Amino acid sequence: MLLPNLAHPAAPSLHEAFKEDFSVGASLGSMSAFDAAERALIVREFNVITSENNLKPARVQPTEGVFTFAEGDALVAFAQEHGIPVTGHTLAWHQATPDWFFVDGDKPASRDLLLQRLRAHIHAVVGHFRGKIKGWDIVNEGLSDKPDEYLRPNKWQQLVGDDYIAQAFAFAHVADPDAELYFNDYGNEYPHKRAKTLRLIKDLQARGLRVDGVGMQLHLQLDRIPYEEIDRSLTAFRALGVKVMITELDLDLVERSVWGADTAEHEEPTATNLGWKDAPPELLQRQAEQYAKLFALLRKHRDIIDRVTFWNLHDGKSWLNNWPVKGRINHPLLFDRALQPKPAYHAVLKIGNAARN
Ligand code: XIL
Repeated sequence: MLLPNLAHPAAPSLHEAFKEDFSVGASLGSMSAFDAAERALIVREFNVITSENNLKPARVQPTEGVFTFAEGDALVAFAQEHGIPVTGHTLAWHQATPDWFFVDGDKPASRDLLLQRLRAHIHAVVGHFRGKIKGWDIVNEGLSDKPDEYLRPNKWQQLVGDDYIAQAFAFAHVADPDAELYFNDYGNEYPHKRAKTLRLIKDLQARGLRVDGVGMQLHLQLDRIPYEEIDRSLTAFRALGVKVMITELDLDLVERSVWGADTAEHEEPTATNLGWKDAPPELLQRQAEQYAKLFALLRKHRDIIDRVTFWNLHDGKSWLNNWPVKGRINHPLLFDRALQPKPAYHAVLKIGNAARN
């Protein structure tokens, strides 16, 4: 199988093209699902890795007190072998968290019990990877999608209160004092979630907590990239004095009516939302132009952007093949299913190279 460097031996890779700007990453699922060609592509193009699924609470602590670290260990071992830093994703979320966390027999768990479980979970997981994982998405998607509501009313918020976020940050800092601590969300490029992000991070800082970064997922849709809003959020987040990470970047080519990235939402298949085995060339071209425009914007904010991470390695591995409609054929990333660079890859690389020359 041809890798991009064989076609263009002199060309720098993605992470090399942006080395003066930010790291460029990919999220990865189970390492056993990546063959030798895929592994070579990861190592060539990316210099930071996020665990896509295997460190989520449902994977690491499916039953209270029973921890399964094999998948996470395999990912960290691969990354360490290649000197690549890893981001842990995620510790407190409204999804992928087993029900046992939230109940006490047939009653809802009390605040104290839930905090005790949150602490135990974070100590076990962050503690296990202490010194091996550079930073953690401590809380994921904790902000409400409703303009007038501050935090998402998930079970953590309902049973503990708004301070579950502060508690999680505090627990993680004790579990690994050297780990970086991030708050990650989608839709924080838009005004109401931007304002809530500012409120939350300022609140955590006012409590004297360590906060290293804000994650902007950026699950984007073709022809609907809100460049100006992204620019405004990056400008606003600069005032917080923390890093910004683009954490879950992809650019959906297939029509969908579900906004954002809440994995709880689903959409029924229709005649137009299942995608194509081969993406229409004109869509791939528009995707290339829009990715390039986005990267030019991100470069403008390179002083605060620490990394830009794609949500998996190539189109065949993207979650957008199954969300919000199951069994779509999507093309949201820079490499196609045969691991070949798409027009978007070349367009993005050009932005990085132009800046270096
Ligand atoms: C997704 C994974 O990519 C899928 O494989 C899994 O089935 C569901 O979760 N926002 C997040 C990620 O923070 O954890 C989600 O990942 C995508 C949306």
